[in-house]
Amino acid sequence: MPVKVLVAGGAGYIGSHVALMLSQRGYDPVIYDNMSSGYIWAVSGDLIKGDIADRPLLSAVIEDARPIAIMHFASKILVGESMERPELYYATNVSGSITLLELALENGIPVIFSSSAAVYGTPETVPITEDSPTRPESVYGETKLVVERALGWYSRIRGLRYVSLRYFNAAGASPSGRLGEMHRPETHLIPLCLHALMGLREKLVVFGDDYPTPDGTCIRDYIHVDDLADAHIRALEWLLSGGQSRVYNLGSEEGYSNLEVISAVGRVTGRDVPWEMGRRRPGDPPVLLASSERIRSELGWRPRYGLEDMIEHAWGFLLEHEGMAREMYAESP
Ligand code: UFG
Repeated sequence: MPVKVLVAGGAGYIGSHVALMLSQRGYDPVIYDNMSSGYIWAVSGDLIKGDIADRPLLSAVIEDARPIAIMHFASKILVGESMERPELYYATNVSGSITLLELALENGIPVIFSSSAAVYGTPETVPITEDSPTRPESVYGETKLVVERALGWYSRIRGLRYVSLRYFNAAGASPSGRLGEMHRPETHLIPLCLHALMGLREKLVVFGDDYPTPDGTCIRDYIHVDDLADAHIRALEWLLSGGQSRVYNLGSEEGYSNLEVISAVGRVTGRDVPWEMGRRRPGDPPVLLASSERIRSELGWRPRYGLEDMIEHAWGFLLEHEGMAREMYAESP
């Protein structure tokens, strides 16, 4: 019988891709999701509807399924919203996570935690390594860092084992077109370019061209969601083979400016993205670029896909699910 892995938040964008890859690699993912932003079509495996803060339910699910590890993706993810409703982010991302950590500890199983480059804030130097200063500039980033620190203490004091993965800019979709990104609201650059191409929005507004970068627009490090999924499975296998707790960056180590992304979308789709230049969005660092050397050398991880693959797969997913996307974004972009 395949061993079970509890995937909290497994109906969301990254969690669903990881769950699918787990099942393709011979594991049995058990999806635990409150469905506040997840989708039933994205679920691979058994779904239990529940919240990570619901300790009795989560405890019963773990007791029943007996997973060998917990992968934890259940989180609020909007930087802007976190500044308007910090209480929501502390309650969900911090309190909920502490409940999950307590139960992992009680059950003697390791945790793989979905963290973010947002823990670094604006870096003094790039590329960013795991030892770069962590100075989050949003409540969202702060909540990810607080959970990482809790993981560190639980590990030192009580022996919990974990891997925390700090994602840079997750993008792309499963190459088959089965899964992809459908955030509501959508705030990310690549899907917004594609939405503009599909006419789901009039145009993309580029947030500023007065940054200290070669073309004046921000530079980001995009990483394919299936490369993230592969890193999660490597982290799982590391922990299952007795490996110690680790924190890793996950980025491609390639930086692309916003204008370069728009050109790449044009090249891949054969159509021009309608866009215009706008003002800066508060809180955007000029350049975010990862060093992923640590996970490359320790777990042998390598990103398989580049920017054009991410765009091609995200576009394939959107074309495959065009009806659903039109319905969803007609109500609320
Ligand atoms: N951008 C635009 N127009 C848009 C949307 C985005 O120009 O309509 C620009 C942004 O200003 C930024 C780049 O595209 O320069 C990428 O923006 P995203 O919103 O796609 O991604 P971010 O880099 O802002 O966010 C990512 C993760 C977050 C994380 C953050 C840390 O998605 O989870 O990095 O800085 F918190």
